[in-house]
Amino acid sequence: MLSGSHLDAVPDGGTFDGAAGAIAALEAARRIAERGVPLARAVEVVGFVEEEGRFTGLLGSAAMMGLADFATLANAYDSQGVSFAEALRAAGLDVSQAQRAVRDPTQIAAFVELHVEQGALLEQAAIPIGLVTSIAGTHRLAVRLRGRTEHAGATPMDRRHDALVVAAEIVAAARRLARATRRETARATVGQLTVRPNVTSAVPGEVDLVVDVRDVDGAARAALAADIEKAIGEASRREGVDWSVTIPMSAVPGQTHPLVQTAIQATCEAMDLPYLRMMSGASHDTLNMLRRVPAGMIFVPSHDGRSHSPAEHTDAEQLAIGTDVLIGTLVRLATDNDTADPRQLLRG
Ligand code: HGY
Ligand code: MN
Ligand code: MN
Repeated sequence: MLSGSHLDAVPDGGTFDGAAGAIAALEAARRIAERGVPLARAVEVVGFVEEEGRFTGLLGSAAMMGLADFATLANAYDSQGVSFAEALRAAGLDVSQAQRAVRDPTQIAAFVELHVEQGALLEQAAIPIGLVTSIAGTHRLAVRLRGRTEHAGATPMDRRHDALVVAAEIVAAARRLARATRRETARATVGQLTVRPNVTSAVPGEVDLVVDVRDVDGAARAALAADIEKAIGEASRREGVDWSVTIPMSAVPGQTHPLVQTAIQATCEAMDLPYLRMMSGASHDTLNMLRRVPAGMIFVPSHDGRSHSPAEHTDAEQLAIGTDVLIGTLVRLATDNDTADPRQLLRG
């Protein structure tokens, strides 16, 4: 049995994304061990690295499940120009040893991740637990636009190759095309954009941006990404700007495993806790885990649905309830005990 989440966060993010699940897993293991709960299978805690996409995203879980391509990764760079190999070296690690992270999935009975919802559905419904049924996969288009940097005053409007004008059309097209799918689960966002020379009196000749495209359905997401790539080419040609697109990340969307869904549901029912079956618009390490082992997720509410922001917050009591459900779920899966109510289990 494995439980945990990621230890990294987005820049200027909150303090619950990832950390809540890692700490809940530690607390669950501590309480199960402290009370000497008899288990048929050990409960192990894991903290994943590089989930947020400094290089490829969801990397720790991909490495563990043998899904990471380290040859390509050794030449990957982050937005500051630091290579993956350099980042590992700075952490005292050697990329040539990365294969050692791979675990035999047949030795993992199931994986359960507690995570903050990062949306507002649970809070709006006043329901303490989300039972995640499907997880959107993130597909990222890294776009490089190369026009001509020129003087803002001396260059006539009809003689420009302005990379930022193309970028602005891409940002608007991503939103328009995602909405045009009329799919509630379709998402397209440009959250990261670098302009050069970024000088008031210069026509921007260079822009690098990333389009983050998501959906719980792989085919629908591929169609949306293709439409966005087409819009990138059209806008670039109109402005006479060269463009290139690479794919730094493409996580396959997935359904959580019925074995874990059932254990979460049975625990909530044993605890008389209302729960909401729901999809996750955010991607998670569980996406990689469920490709090799039975895996599922427990959501706890996010205040005002905020995340990837310093405003991210979940109450201690909500985390405690989520941890109780995690304990009951892990004990069920580790002992085939279908009556485990954590409060009964650990009381006394
Ligand atoms: O972006 C995500 O969905 C996750 O927070 N890495
Ligand atoms: Mn996360
Ligand atoms: Mn995140």
